[in-house]
Amino acid sequence: MQIQENISLRPYNSFGIDVRARYFAAFNNIEELETLLSPDSRLPTLILGGGSNILFTKDVDGLVLKNEITGITELHEDSQYVYVKAGAGENWHRFVLHCIERNWAGVENLSLIPGNVGASPMQNIGAYGVEIDDVFWVLEAYHLKEKKRVTFTRSDCEFGYRDSVFKKKFKDQFVILNVTFRLHKKPIFHTNYGAIEQELEKMGIKELSIKAISNAVIRIRSSKLPDPAITGNAGSFFKNPVVSKEQFVQLKSITHNIIGHETIEGTIKLAAGWLIEQCGPEAETSWKGFRRGDAGCHANQALVLVNYGDANGKEIFNLSEEILQSVKAKFGITLEREVNII
Ligand code: FAD
Ligand code: EPU
Repeated sequence: MQIQENISLRPYNSFGIDVRARYFAAFNNIEELETLLSPDSRLPTLILGGGSNILFTKDVDGLVLKNEITGITELHEDSQYVYVKAGAGENWHRFVLHCIERNWAGVENLSLIPGNVGASPMQNIGAYGVEIDDVFWVLEAYHLKEKKRVTFTRSDCEFGYRDSVFKKKFKDQFVILNVTFRLHKKPIFHTNYGAIEQELEKMGIKELSIKAISNAVIRIRSSKLPDPAITGNAGSFFKNPVVSKEQFVQLKSITHNIIGHETIEGTIKLAAGWLIEQCGPEAETSWKGFRRGDAGCHANQALVLVNYGDANGKEIFNLSEEILQSVKAKFGITLEREVNII
């Protein structure tokens, strides 16, 4: 455990933004975390996981602490479930593969999501019809000011669409240390979302398994989402906006081909990628595939903003603001950013 000074955060964020941190350190356990947060340290602290949902728009004049607490442990099981605890610093996809190998079901639809276990409940990560909320059991976190461990149950987390208590009333107050998931011993397959069934058919799958679903998800994701190792990005930059059924009917009467899906709450989730694709920097143009300098909007998925190399965070943020304003002007809908802006 070593505190480094004035280091570039470029290797630590999937957008590949070259800002600097005044201080930077990684911790492997709670004792190291406590040492780094010693009483004389009054510096603002930023907890970092895999850096795949962050846009840095300026240098960080404080202490960046990278959570590297690892370990995956099977705690216990009952007739239906197995309870598995993972360190916050475990890579999310590695955890998913670990579960699939042991036939523990529930996270296979969340294959290939970048980042670490610790951010997964914070963001309530989701894909292809499954969210962390569906498999979450409990987590342990450390209160930065009160310097004590606190346990959060599922209801304490107040999960919502890409949302939790850690993004709202407890923002920047806790370090998530580990997360326990409740996984199914007998799988419940979720194949009705998006293109999963089609992909399974293309793959010639005769007998459904969690491994096959994981592979299908990996193939779909790889075909449309840019690989951050090649092109900087943080996944969907905005959330899909949620409107009432009445609003949707009204929107559809004006824009017949608008895309929306009913949620279990009876509201309609609009496809933000589609809305963005219909707008552009000028009339008759689209943001999709747009590039200014090294900042751009991905050609296969308009919801994903990209850094082609040397864009800075302000350029990406300003582009997102232009996109947001154009969607607002055309559809009267205000997009909300999903990515954490620093
Ligand atoms: P970071 O970016 O490091 O941090 C995100 C936020 O959480 C920050 O505010 C940080 O301070 C805080 N944080 C991180 N770790 C901790 C901790 N241990 N304790 C307290 N706070 C913490 N997301 C989806 O939901 N679904 C997708 O399908 C999806 N696809 C993606 C595809 C690509 C190509 C990319 C680049 C991103 C995608 N994302 C997706 C977004 C991203 O992968 C998730 O939000 C992921 O959970 C972020 O994890 P991270 O460890 O990188 O978090
Ligand atoms: N679409 C367009 N144009 C585009 C992009 C999308 O018309 O440029 C349309 C598609 O044709 C489709 C609909 O929008 O009809 C939805 O697109 P897609 O299936 O690609 O998913 P998404 O709604 O854009 C969401 C999540 C993703 C998650 C996928 C799969 C959000 C903000 N994004 O994207 O999560 O992987 O569904 O479940 O909810 C992330 O959070 O970072 C993320 C990548």
